[in-house]
Amino acid sequence: MVSIRDRIAIVTGGTRGIGQAITRALLDAGARVVVCARSREAVAACVERLQPQWAGRIEGTACDVSRYDQVRSLVNFTLEEFGGLDILVNNAGVGVMGDIAEISPRQWQEVIGTNLTGVFHCCHAAVPVLRRRGGGYILNIGSLAGTQGFAGGSAYNASKFGLNGFSEAIMQDLRHDNIRVSAVLPGSVNTGFRGHRTGKEARWKLTPEDVAQVVVDLLRHDPRSLPSRVELRPSRPPRK
Ligand SMILES: NC(=O)c1ccc[n+]([C@@H]2O[C@H](COP(=O)([O-])OP(=O)(O)OC[C@H]3O[C@@H](n4cnc5c(N)ncnc54)[C@H](OP(=O)(O)O)[C@@H]3O)[C@@H](O)[C@H]2O)c1
Repeated sequence: MVSIRDRIAIVTGGTRGIGQAITRALLDAGARVVVCARSREAVAACVERLQPQWAGRIEGTACDVSRYDQVRSLVNFTLEEFGGLDILVNNAGVGVMGDIAEISPRQWQEVIGTNLTGVFHCCHAAVPVLRRRGGGYILNIGSLAGTQGFAGGSAYNASKFGLNGFSEAIMQDLRHDNIRVSAVLPGSVNTGFRGHRTGKEARWKLTPEDVAQVVVDLLRHDPRSLPSRVELRPSRPPRK
């Protein structure tokens, strides 16, 4: 099994939900992690929450992944704080749903700008660093919404379908540089995403920890083979 002890990771959108669970799982496995999100306060609160258990191994900075200048600063911050970068988890995402005539061009831009262009920005800024390091791992958190469209999902579906194509292409760009790329496509996860209900009534859903476990399993996977896409479903959703 590959060890990720002392590996240096960035988790975008690491302040809550799936990103926070991935951050905790990476820290548990001995990695050092930089989290980012748009909210400076949420980043500070997240680092403060995790510092007592993982002092010196968790840092954070505000960054909107839809802004390339901010993404470059995120990568530079990571290099300054921890001296390198080995793992990039592109998790930050937004979901704006609505009929095609109802979502505004601005909402479309926000969804595509975060879920798709944001991933491009992070990869574009990180890949030269990973190449200099001699390898690394990029994990893109997609969605089953990237395999099947649904009413009201035009922007979100488009962003996640696009992310699948992007992930497959860069997997082929980077595999010979010892940079591994995997896409993880969860179904419904019990987070507050898109104002979803959480709690008892959502017990059938995946948990953020289920997704985090897959991320850590992929990082530890024997490098002889590459699980480039993992679809993760709740085992027993309500019957339709
Ligand atoms: N929940 C589900 O059912 C589900 C299912 C499949 C896939 N996913 C995917 O999993 C990922 C995480 O979802 P989640 O449910 O954990 O969502 P969440 O609880 O809403 O958390 C989203 C995180 O992303 C950050 N974020 C949003 N826009 C950002 C931006 N432009 N730049 C940087 N950070 C940004 C948020 O912080 P700020 O708001 O402070 O920026 C927050 O930390 C998303 O890519 C989502 O599409 C979710």
